[in-house]
Amino acid sequence: MQKPVLLTGASGNLGRVLAKGLAERGYTLRLTDISPFPDPLPPGAVFEQADLEDGVTILRLAEGCSTILHFGGVSVERPFEDIIGPNLRGLFHIYEAARREGARVVFASSNHSIGFHERPSDNAELLDVADAFRPDGYYGLAKACGELMGRLYWDKHGVENVNLRIGACYERPVDRRMLSIWLSFPDLQQLAKCCIEAPRVAHAVIWGVSQNPAKYWGADHRERIGWEPQDSAEPFRAEVQHILGDPISERYQGGAFAAKGYTRTEPSPRDTFAVE
Ligand SMILES: NC(=O)c1ccc[n+]([C@@H]2O[C@H](COP(=O)([O-])OP(=O)(O)OC[C@H]3O[C@@H](n4cnc5c(N)ncnc54)[C@H](O)[C@@H]3O)[C@@H](O)[C@H]2O)c1
Repeated sequence: MQKPVLLTGASGNLGRVLAKGLAERGYTLRLTDISPFPDPLPPGAVFEQADLEDGVTILRLAEGCSTILHFGGVSVERPFEDIIGPNLRGLFHIYEAARREGARVVFASSNHSIGFHERPSDNAELLDVADAFRPDGYYGLAKACGELMGRLYWDKHGVENVNLRIGACYERPVDRRMLSIWLSFPDLQQLAKCCIEAPRVAHAVIWGVSQNPAKYWGADHRERIGWEPQDSAEPFRAEVQHILGDPISERYQGGAFAAKGYTRTEPSPRDTFAVE
């Protein structure tokens, strides 16, 4: 019998999309979130309300699971103290559970782990997953730490993990930046399936983005999981290309997250020292 898949953050925007999509694809799901699950439970799914900071409960929820899809936690920029519990201690509980169960972790990382890279000009080299982390806030910093946690648990304990640097996963793009970083719901659902099914992933990092021609990001490890996104933001161009942010948001890949609380006052130098 197929082992269950544990999905954290199940009551959130992406959790609900994944719960539906993976149930339709025949998976037995264990759903969890600190908030109640707002939809009717999909067939083959159970839900238990739990806090990621409760390590004992996380260990129990992961028992017998093949994969933990970790989508729970604070999903926006917040003060440091609000982030460390759910996003760092919680992540540690997920990795300890995966180690004990021999499970694979699929971690919802974010473009905000590299958000202070500038947006590429035309024909510029695209960012690849080996380029340096440049988090654009405490949220992005916790995502970078999460990816490094995956590196550690693979190197030290052989816990396989796929880190999805999700761009913006919405029903449709809502501004010009999303013409570059949009991930459609169907592409996300297929991405999750590929992460579960791949025979071997080691420590992998994949840009969670659809097939957008205006892309910022290049090489990653998608060949390990055989994922090929099908959708593109381009059909929405006329609708959203005039929707821009302030100059700081428009300069950096992280957009408004980079601009939030920005206090540099010197005439913003281009990167003389490339990646410092
Ligand atoms: N939506 C996007 O475009 C996007 C982009 C990049 C990364 N991500 C990441 O993907 C994941 C899902 O994003 P989303 O848009 O569905 O966010 P969301 O905020 O809708 O969902 C996150 C869920 O985590 C739960 N949660 C928060 N703290 C918790 C705790 N202490 N214990 C248990 N559950 C807790 C919340 O109740 C919520 O249901 C997040 O990790 C987010 O950082 C999303």
